[in-house]
Amino acid sequence: MNHPHLFSPLEVGPYQLAHRLVMAPLTRMRAARPSLAPRPLNAEYYAQRATPGGLIIAEASPVIASGFGSPGVPGIYSQAQVEGWREVVDAVHAKGGVIFLQLWHVGRVSHSSFQPGGGLPVAPSAVPIPTDLKTMTADGRVTTYETPRALRTSEIAGLIEAFRSGARNALAAGFDGVEIHGANGYVIEQFLHSHTNLRTDQYGGSIENRVRFLMEVTEAVIAVWGAERVGVRLSPYGIANGSGEADPMPLYTHAIERLNPLHLAYLHFIEPRSSGAGRAEVNWQNVPSAMVLFRPIVKGVLISAGGFTGDIAEAAIAEGHADAIAFGRIFISNPDLPRRLQQGFPLTPYNRKTFYGGEAEGYTDYPTHDAMEPA
Ligand SMILES: Cc1cc2nc3c(=O)[nH]c(=O)nc-3n(C[C@H](O)[C@H](O)[C@H](O)COP(=O)(O)O)c2cc1C
Repeated sequence: MNHPHLFSPLEVGPYQLAHRLVMAPLTRMRAARPSLAPRPLNAEYYAQRATPGGLIIAEASPVIASGFGSPGVPGIYSQAQVEGWREVVDAVHAKGGVIFLQLWHVGRVSHSSFQPGGGLPVAPSAVPIPTDLKTMTADGRVTTYETPRALRTSEIAGLIEAFRSGARNALAAGFDGVEIHGANGYVIEQFLHSHTNLRTDQYGGSIENRVRFLMEVTEAVIAVWGAERVGVRLSPYGIANGSGEADPMPLYTHAIERLNPLHLAYLHFIEPRSSGAGRAEVNWQNVPSAMVLFRPIVKGVLISAGGFTGDIAEAAIAEGHADAIAFGRIFISNPDLPRRLQQGFPLTPYNRKTFYGGEAEGYTDYPTHDAMEPA
């Protein structure tokens, strides 16, 4: 029997992927303002990275105005945003690609300057992010995080509804599926982790209660899309945005065992060695591997991300630790990443300074390998 490798096909829900090299969700803060709708530059960027039968997970997109924590991030709650995303989706489909949208709410990783009406950000509990981490206000000032306002029990259904309507909007925009952002210290992870969830209602306390919000969001999104077009992203052992669970094993074991019977399109892990990659140049070693620890209990497709090179990705797939690998930073600087890895071409290094915000520089101006060849 031939072992699968990066360039073997893979079934993900109803889609037959031609290879296992996925574009990770990447916030780039280049939406139109003030509509926060994707614009032609964004469509060009995604089309550059689309391959026939290749899966792209489009950047995290707030499902409601209270879900923002950074300027220039595209939303998925207004008609203009749906129309902007449709242009992106059409451009990726024109190249034969498959594209999911990541649904987002940042919870406490926000600031009152982003909040409609200027109120405090909402979160499961009024626990602030430690002051050594800084955030940016809507007008670009660097500051510490505020103490969020704890959601009343009666408000939680509304937040779940926001995910449902974001899912509906993604469907209207023509996406092939959606990914629920349950990672990196944002609102779903704030419910999951015990130090950010001090609730005494049915959404806090026991592991079962802390997993409830994730499950209710997932069920709402499945009601729109069907499970086979819904993925969930988790970061067990991650410490992004002041998150982190002292003993993640029982929590994530329970979450995975609850998600398994839903038959999702996939589960997507971020390896803890790259937790915080969005903010800094990190690749910690000697930390547990999420895919190695949890693969034995994941039923269905497992995508892993975080610090992968082509060789490490090949090994992970050959050893059965993951079915597909999502690439973030090197997909930013190598629009033709699948071809480069397949051919063993050298990679263009990324420029961290142009990750967030701006125009074409560091976004659509990274050349393909062929364009770099001397004439
Ligand atoms: C610029 C940048 C933006 C990111 N935005 C998101 C995001 O919107 N959603 C998400 O789940 N992860 C996000 N991440 C994390 C990446 O998806 C990925 O997990 C991480 O970069 C590790 O993979 P890599 O080592 O291949 O870069 C971001 C990372 C970077 C560098």
